[in-house]
Amino acid sequence: MTTPSDLVRGLRYRRFLGRRHLVRGRIPERPTVPYKIQPGCLAVILPAFFLLMLLGVLILVGIAVQLVFYVGASLAALLLVQPFSRWAMPALRGRELHANAFAGVPRIGMFAIGAVPTTALAYPLSHNLATLAGAAVIGGVGFAPLVNALDGKAFPKPKLPLGRRAVATSQTMEPSLETPGEFGLWIGEATGQLAALEHTAGLQRGSDVTLELRDAAKNIAIYGETGTGKTTRVINHLLIQALDFQCGGVIFNVRGDFHETAERAARITGKTIQHIGVDQLGLNLLEGLTPNTAAGFLEAAFKLLGQGQGDSAFWLSLAVARTQHALSVLVHLPNAYSLKGLYRYVFDTRFRTQALDVARDTLADLQVRAADGEREAALEARRLTTAMDYEETIAPGYSEKERSGVNRTIETALARFADPELEDAFCTQAPGNANLADVLDGTVFVVNVPRERFKAAASVVYLFVKERFFQAVNSRAQLPAGPRKSRPLLFLCDEYQQICSAGDAQFFDTSRALGVVAIVAAQSLEAYISAIDDEHAALALLANFTNVVAFRSTERTMDYIAGKIGDVEVWKETYNTGRSEKPTLLFPEIASVSEGHSASRQRERLLTAQTFRALAPDHAVALLTVDGVAFDDVLWVPQITTDDLA
Ligand SMILES: Nc1ncnc2c1ncn2[C@@H]1O[C@H](COP(=O)(O)OP(=O)(O)OP(=O)(O)O)[C@@H](O)[C@H]1O
Ligand SMILES: [Mg+2]
Repeated sequence: MTTPSDLVRGLRYRRFLGRRHLVRGRIPERPTVPYKIQPGCLAVILPAFFLLMLLGVLILVGIAVQLVFYVGASLAALLLVQPFSRWAMPALRGRELHANAFAGVPRIGMFAIGAVPTTALAYPLSHNLATLAGAAVIGGVGFAPLVNALDGKAFPKPKLPLGRRAVATSQTMEPSLETPGEFGLWIGEATGQLAALEHTAGLQRGSDVTLELRDAAKNIAIYGETGTGKTTRVINHLLIQALDFQCGGVIFNVRGDFHETAERAARITGKTIQHIGVDQLGLNLLEGLTPNTAAGFLEAAFKLLGQGQGDSAFWLSLAVARTQHALSVLVHLPNAYSLKGLYRYVFDTRFRTQALDVARDTLADLQVRAADGEREAALEARRLTTAMDYEETIAPGYSEKERSGVNRTIETALARFADPELEDAFCTQAPGNANLADVLDGTVFVVNVPRERFKAAASVVYLFVKERFFQAVNSRAQLPAGPRKSRPLLFLCDEYQQICSAGDAQFFDTSRALGVVAIVAAQSLEAYISAIDDEHAALALLANFTNVVAFRSTERTMDYIAGKIGDVEVWKETYNTGRSEKPTLLFPEIASVSEGHSASRQRERLLTAQTFRALAPDHAVALLTVDGVAFDDVLWVPQITTDDLA
């Protein structure tokens, strides 16, 4: 066991803090609009009040006292109920008492708001004037300090369906940094910027954000134009942490510049990773696949390489049929069931004739075994007969145009597999070959097939590895309980648009329950749409990546992410002043001046493209799900470069 480096320990500590301290941000208070008692209003109210007082003196003293109280209470309510209700109403709705509700209310107003209810409460108990005066003084004087003490506090509630304060935490003790602890991925530290914009799912500034396995298994998509920090501010952290947990998985080194980073991350976490590629571990891409499944994977590969769109859809279906039948023949030949074998079968007539001769002998053999009552042999004989019939009767009947269309489709994907380097790495059966199913035992494979060197073949390799990984993961559902079934698995792919296909949505739809954490990055939404060539399918695929970390990107990507958060209700303050002059015969200079200040709630888009453009280099917008609850914010995401992993 190696000693964890400071970086690994730092991430462990941050992860722990994220479990303990995730707090929603406080949304800003209502802007202070001073409450003014209008003199014009008093001019009517005061004479009425004094008139009533006068009446009270004239009538019986007791009745007069009652009248004074009730009129006084009504007046106080008339004048003062608005700030009081603004203060108290949020508490009735389960929120905090409004902190700024009494801003601008004069001291005498505060006195009255406090005095009236206490006096009214005391009145039924005693009609003694001194007692009532005492109650008025206590209520009046005590009200302002009471408001100060209670401002911003909420009445305790038995259970909040969507906690405004803290999310339940699974770890409260100080952690041991010597072990990785329970699985979790620290994403960054909240800046509180979205809460400040009145986003109720915003976070409190300084909160560390950690995704537990059930949240991380909802997958993470990273967006950002080149150089914004996708790799060094997000992917590298997540990779180090995933390796720290000794999870299994696949890392697709699509750009060809990630193997060193992966190797160093493995070293500092004490994990061993396996590299698949030329001069590295080999992998016979077809090994263990039935001709049917292999033809399905090839169909996805043809599509990934741009075949099957528009007119070429016809060639694609013929090419898939051809490859499936060819593979059904090749599976009976020694060392020929590989992409290279397939290529030779289609393009090398001599090889095909030999293969068909061997297949004929095999068929005779199978038919004998079938006659002896072997069910499996009978089935296999039928499959082989169909494949050979296709090859011997249907395929020769293709017109020259059809044949060249089919061949062109197959050639785009397979031409390079005749290259000896690729043949050794991906078309050869060897005992030391990688077995993708080992990810269930905790093996991490890094697939290194540089695209600039191997072109279309690189895409085919990545696609096959991806599909084989999906297969291995899907087989988990049938496994008995144990680490092979429950170990978290990593699917990490920078430039995911290079290997994605619409069918991946099906896998990611169910992979959550199988403990897979998929982390993918691309520069923009358009990259996915053009790769899949179907906007709806691309969006459906991306919908499986619930957690999003985004840097500055294209207008459309920023709009897409802004649209996920949607609108917020914000306080908008408006000011107006005006002057009107209505000269009359007697008062030619008479003029009135009006002044207004109001605050109202309005809906507006929380994030705009401008928000992304204004992000500091070490900040990213994050839309996350923690414990099933949405938390969004601009996060501080520190940089970890390959050099930092030395
Ligand atoms: N080892 C390093 N030392 C210093 N700066 C670095 C190092 N590696 C990357 N950077 C800088 O950090 C910034 C973010 O780089 P990063 O590779 O994370 O971007 P990215 O979003 O992954 O870009 P790309 O799409 O090109 O992969 C870039 O400006 C880059 O120049
Ligand atoms: Mg990058």
